[in-house]
Amino acid sequence: MKKILLLGDIHANYPALKAIQKYTKPDRFDRIVNTGDFTVYSTFPNETIQWFRERKKTISILGNTDRRILRILKGKKLKKPSKQEKRVMYFWTSENLLPENLKYLNSLPAQTGLTLGPFRIGVFHGTCDDADEELYPDAPEARFHQLAKDSPCQIHIMGHSHVPYHKVVDGVHFINPGSVGRMFDGDPRASFAILKISSEKIGVEHFRIPYPVKKVVKSLKKNRLPDIYTKMFQIGKKLN
Ligand SMILES: [Fe+2]
Repeated sequence: MKKILLLGDIHANYPALKAIQKYTKPDRFDRIVNTGDFTVYSTFPNETIQWFRERKKTISILGNTDRRILRILKGKKLKKPSKQEKRVMYFWTSENLLPENLKYLNSLPAQTGLTLGPFRIGVFHGTCDDADEELYPDAPEARFHQLAKDSPCQIHIMGHSHVPYHKVVDGVHFINPGSVGRMFDGDPRASFAILKISSEKIGVEHFRIPYPVKKVVKSLKKNRLPDIYTKMFQIGKKLN
């Protein structure tokens, strides 16, 4: 049996990632899959990226926040988000990202895949069709049928919506581990999942664990970042 740790949407929340490390002992897994959004809204993009750089069994892709950081650092204009308070964190991250971590982000694909046993696994930020698509578990069934048809993968590991779920449509498994560092459902605890694959069986378990939010808050204050970020991490909700 293969065990895969599913992480995603960490959003530079290294204290949350460390809490998962303590809870799961990631080095015991056969793979660690990360669905992207390493960066933005917490202050630890370097520590977060470094964590993945140090581990050989990781498979990571870029998320939309990471792509925006890369665009800013190429000298391009930041179109979204439009709210000034949100833009602050993109510029702060761009200014504070270390060159070796920028190089690592630049080396990552927008989506990837792997084969484990008889299963082809796709790793997507949004969906196999669109990296920016937020696929919620209550999306129309027709959308899941279409995605099951559009990809040769039997397992889709996705992020972006920040909603943890596991749904099987037409024999295809759609799995979102939720967000490690920035939940939207009013529960600020870190979310992740464990995928277990044997020759014919697929098992998924989701977890929510507490982490020291105060470490994130302290660092936001030290760096004089907007108070709305503090609130977001404390209550586990979106900025708007
Ligand atoms: Fe995200």
